[in-house]
Amino acid sequence: MNQHGALYSEIIQKVDELGILHQHLFDLSGWSQDQFITLFKMADLMDELKNSGCQLMLGRVIYNLFFQPSTRTRTSYEYAMKQLGGQVINEVDPLRHSAVTRGESLKDTLRVVSEFANLIVLRHGNENEVLEAVELLGSRVSPIISGGFGHCYHPTQALADIYTVWRFINKPFKDIVVLLTSPDLSRGYRSGHAFAIGMAKLGARIVYTGSAEHMIPSNVRETLIDLGAKFEEFTDLSRIENLELLSRSDLVYLPITSLATDDVERELFLKRIQQHFISLADLESIKKSTGKVIGAMHPLPRNKNQFDYAIDNTEFELYFKTVKLSVPLRMALIAAVVGIPLSIRSQYS
Ligand code: CP
Repeated sequence: MNQHGALYSEIIQKVDELGILHQHLFDLSGWSQDQFITLFKMADLMDELKNSGCQLMLGRVIYNLFFQPSTRTRTSYEYAMKQLGGQVINEVDPLRHSAVTRGESLKDTLRVVSEFANLIVLRHGNENEVLEAVELLGSRVSPIISGGFGHCYHPTQALADIYTVWRFINKPFKDIVVLLTSPDLSRGYRSGHAFAIGMAKLGARIVYTGSAEHMIPSNVRETLIDLGAKFEEFTDLSRIENLELLSRSDLVYLPITSLATDDVERELFLKRIQQHFISLADLESIKKSTGKVIGAMHPLPRNKNQFDYAIDNTEFELYFKTVKLSVPLRMALIAAVVGIPLSIRSQYS
């Protein structure tokens, strides 16, 4: 047995318990509470394997196919796979560098890259195009983990966020209140929606506050209703009213930049952000009056006129903790979806 033997045995057991071998991972609405906890325990084990020369994914390959830019998701999958001893192919700009420029369909691209990889991590702007291509390909496509689709799906950012809550917030999920706040919940807030659905599955109360014009996509609302989630929505509240909601929360998912710098509506977004802006002073004031340390969450990137950078390096900050924890979390997901090679299973099961 090698130096990792005991950890390998526990990880193999958790891969079997989790039950997502060779499955696509697009959203969390079908996950059970046990699956979340098993994944988080597996991520704890993976944390112990970091920087140890682990070879669990030796001979396995992931293909990072990113139709939209990314800093964290793509590189953390790459780093996670390398920590597991596996290999990575990166296509970071297929709209310029791949055969997509010559009209290749997403379906064909996915079928081709499936020949080269055990797992595809895919970021794409249009979830319907992805779902249609995957449906048509059936078993002819490698398992796909969503690295962010459209405006609603970013399940593994959500898993990294929820894993951070599991590690740092000393409260049962069912007693946690999550506030999701932004002038635009309809575009670019996919990490927040995925987080809300995952937290709702674990029993947390979900509170959205936004603008009537740009509330949450109807499929996110329907999912929360179908799940029987404890769920409320508020629109066009004043800053004082939003701070009142904040004071009743345990976690806040802060506004996310939804519009490109050249978008004509960006001006309006920036004007409305004042109602949703949460400063370090707000968090400190609530702590003073209630004793509560509200965890500040955000998927990043952020812009300085929408975000109080003074929250960094305080007890309220959770977003950089999530970046760090996303690595063991993604190591666990890769192993669970790709599966442990037989040569290792036979020694350590
Ligand atoms: N959190 C997140 O998805 O960041 P990137 O866009 O940099 O991957």
